[in-house]
Amino acid sequence: MEKVYLNGKHVNREDASVSPDDRGFLFADGVYEVVRWYGSFFLGMEEHHRRLIRSLREMEIDWPEVEHFPELCHSLLEVNGLSENQALVYFQITRGAARRTHQYPNPPVAPTSYAFASAFNPDKEARLKGVAISTAPDIRWARCDIKSVSLLGNTMSFQKAREKGMYECIFIRNGVITEASHSNVFFIKGSNLITHPPSNHILSGITRGIILELARKEGIRIIEDAVHAEELLQMDEVFLTSTSSEVTPVISIDGNQLGSGTPGEMTRRLIALTEDKLAAIIATIKNANRIK
Ligand code: PDD
Repeated sequence: MEKVYLNGKHVNREDASVSPDDRGFLFADGVYEVVRWYGSFFLGMEEHHRRLIRSLREMEIDWPEVEHFPELCHSLLEVNGLSENQALVYFQITRGAARRTHQYPNPPVAPTSYAFASAFNPDKEARLKGVAISTAPDIRWARCDIKSVSLLGNTMSFQKAREKGMYECIFIRNGVITEASHSNVFFIKGSNLITHPPSNHILSGITRGIILELARKEGIRIIEDAVHAEELLQMDEVFLTSTSSEVTPVISIDGNQLGSGTPGEMTRRLIALTEDKLAAIIATIKNANRIK
């Protein structure tokens, strides 16, 4: 039976319940993280942990368990028998339950923490063949840097994109491309790798950081600058990054084919570098276990 984490305990999913007065339910007043388990390690756990601490701080939510986030993710996999699998852990903390008023409860109430783990099958076809995406106006708020559960702008836009048969949609704000509904976006022009700089208009993705680090080590020229919507179709290559999809090549935007309509060379190189990084981590873990 599936166990979820709720307020410090593992409980059967059917038995998990929260108050209807929870501010997560009333105001989307909470934050979340999604971490990916590769069968023997979480990729970028430290960075996810740091981002969660930052999101909580920005929202002024005091979650006493925050230091134990990595262990809590591990134990959720263990109780669900997922330790040997590829899996995703979703973790959410809201401000807690209180009578509805816009002001934060004073004195503060206990936050509500909820997490679940699920086996994960990567979308290999999307990565191999590339995907079609659309553009959409960025109707979201001005604190996209906080990983808040308040995602209506993201879900409404993504739903419209899906109805058009698109894999993702990328947002345009003040004429520039910010990011996608649940991923970051990168461009390649000539030998330059371009992506929106960290700001309040994008979530600073952990995968984004990993790709920038790999590219830097390879000596690829990085430009952290906004790309204008009218420059989009002049880009040589475009790809998306996220915890679940790693690097996904884009082959068309709003029905316009990019380049030859197949994943580009630089994108494939970055995918290969990501795979090398994962293989190196696995080899290090195997070695460490052998020494033990
Ligand atoms: N989405 N931008 C947005 C708006 C996101 O929601 C996400 C992640 C990213 C990529 O961040 P990272 O590389 O840290 O996963 C960028 C998660 C996976 C989600 O909402 O399910």
